[in-house]
Amino acid sequence: MADATIAPEDLRLLLGPRTRRGIRAWLHDGIAAAVRDGRLSAGVRLPSSRAVAAGFGVARGPVSEALELLTAEGYLITRERSGSSVAPSAASVRPARREATVRPPPSPGTPDPALFPWSSWLRAMRSGSARLGPDDLGYGDPRGLPALRERVAELLRLTRGAVVEPDQVVIISGVAQGLTLLATVLRARGAGPIAVEDPGSPGARDSLCGIGATVVGVPTDELGIDIDRLADEAGAVIVTPAHQYPLGVPLDPDRRRRLLDWAAGRLVIEDDYDADLRYDGRPIGVLQAMAPDRVVLLGSVSKVLAPGMRLGWLIPPPHLHAELVAAKRNADLGTSVFDQAALAEFLGSGEYQRQVKRLRQVYGERRASLVAQLRERLAPDSFDPDPGGYQAGLHLLVPLPDATAEERALAFLADRGIAAQGYRSCFFGTGDPGIILGIARPIAPTLVSALAAAVHGPTNPRVVRTE
Ligand SMILES: Cc1ncc(COP(=O)(O)O)c(C=O)c1O
Repeated sequence: MADATIAPEDLRLLLGPRTRRGIRAWLHDGIAAAVRDGRLSAGVRLPSSRAVAAGFGVARGPVSEALELLTAEGYLITRERSGSSVAPSAASVRPARREATVRPPPSPGTPDPALFPWSSWLRAMRSGSARLGPDDLGYGDPRGLPALRERVAELLRLTRGAVVEPDQVVIISGVAQGLTLLATVLRARGAGPIAVEDPGSPGARDSLCGIGATVVGVPTDELGIDIDRLADEAGAVIVTPAHQYPLGVPLDPDRRRRLLDWAAGRLVIEDDYDADLRYDGRPIGVLQAMAPDRVVLLGSVSKVLAPGMRLGWLIPPPHLHAELVAAKRNADLGTSVFDQAALAEFLGSGEYQRQVKRLRQVYGERRASLVAQLRERLAPDSFDPDPGGYQAGLHLLVPLPDATAEERALAFLADRGIAAQGYRSCFFGTGDPGIILGIARPIAPTLVSALAAAVHGPTNPRVVRTE
């Protein structure tokens, strides 16, 4: 269509039906969109404002205004006597490729949204916001609101045995932000590679690699990370000691001690992502309590409330505190004060702990029922869905006999919109087959039966029951 003139009736078709926003906005938005998505290409001449007005049966004034605005914005060039045409540079306004959505794959470790405590959270938002004053509305302390730091310190001391004062707490937007802040600070210090558990969380590994950190995997088994395989040159290690992701085991007590010895002059990053949720006893206390000078503690509300809230905390050792606060300030100048005020209120009123108690009950039952169903419906020789029997968190690792079984299971679950992760994706190199299933949302027994059939193939006699 380059260098052609578009007739008023063709322009009319291109613009589609009139909107309620007036002639000027209809013409402006429609032509701009057509230029952006390539329906009007560079060089195409537009009819004069007089011709458009006459052809469309509208006043000339708003047509001229729309064309002038499009010219000012760079979509059109207008020359005296030759009228307006699509600017050659306007093609660059067009995105290279239109993405349908920017949604990450669903994570199996997500809480059941049906259990979100809407009414108490809305109450907390209202009363928390009402406590904010004019000074809170500016760029505040990047560590976060004092009221929230106090509540978080109290919670961590009480429930996790952490050694922490409110001044040390830095409010962040989830463990994920904590990891990238730490990686940034460690790189600035020239601290060496960051060691991570292998198998471990692919999300943590990918976000560190995404910001250019050097990440090395450390073999991890049913006792947790293998301290003997921790490289000397690593400057820090990220561990999930209360509930290893994805194996679901706590770090062995002897390895806990040896890890802290290794950490002299280095840093242990304790990802305490789901530790509140233990179903068969008290949650294991944090490593940070044993060595607050070499462990940084990270946690969030993602598992107890909702990952979409993007609220968490970071408790650094004193020698890293100032650098991490500066990194947080550089990253985003602090977390939303309204969200922080609501969480302070939610913690202070005891609602958070009530929610934890409720979830322990509900998720504990759902987990036990899923384990029982998996045991019953899949042959016992192929896997044990709960080898350590440590009942905690939102996910369950289900080892499978081979890669084909993993692929079949993932395809089956994806078709039904059930979040699951392939176990092999948790390894640096070649990994064992299996799937990681969420326990938070109930999974119907018929679905577990169908999953078993899908995993083993329809004719395999190892499927012991299918309904
Ligand atoms: C092991 C582990 N660490 C960290 C995170 C991220 O947590 P947050 O939502 O607090 O950023 C997740 C999320 O599922 C996780 O599984």
